[in-house]
Amino acid sequence: MKKYTLHMVVNGEEISIETKPNATLLEVLRDELNLMEVKEGCGQGDCGACAVILDGKAVNSCLTLAMQAEGREITTLSGLNKNGKIHPLQKSFVSHGAIQCGFCTPGMIMSAKALLDKNPHPTRDEIKIAISGNLCRCTGYKKIIEAIEAVTKGKEEKEGENVRA
Ligand code: FES
Ligand code: FES
Repeated sequence: MKKYTLHMVVNGEEISIETKPNATLLEVLRDELNLMEVKEGCGQGDCGACAVILDGKAVNSCLTLAMQAEGREITTLSGLNKNGKIHPLQKSFVSHGAIQCGFCTPGMIMSAKALLDKNPHPTRDEIKIAISGNLCRCTGYKKIIEAIEAVTKGKEEKEGENVRA
């Protein structure tokens, strides 16, 4: 199959990469760019484990063709770390016990991040809607919602800034 050159900005870095026209964004991020925090769960848009932020919006990368990302900006979980410091959402998930196996966590955090970037003070219902496409088999969601709420109230901001990845 003929390959083409894909250009995109991933976690702030300009990328040019040869890929197949039918490759998904998930395949390119994991298999070509080695961003293993982007998880493959169902592979068909049901679980949200593969969620990344594409031009400010959380999307399931398993349902997004890589060529749809041409010229666009993608953020994955590792893109949230700044100068070796983890993001307040990551810190809050840990301190609230919102992680068990952790498989859903990268996608869950990307959905939460996309929400908070647009709406820094969402209601509990808005948080629930934002993560409604992210399935968790372990935690029962209560702690996840509390972890996101803590960040909206600024409770984790300071600590998050001081924790090293
Ligand atoms: S792996 Fe993409 S939604 Fe499940
Ligand atoms: S922590 Fe295991 S699936 Fe969410």
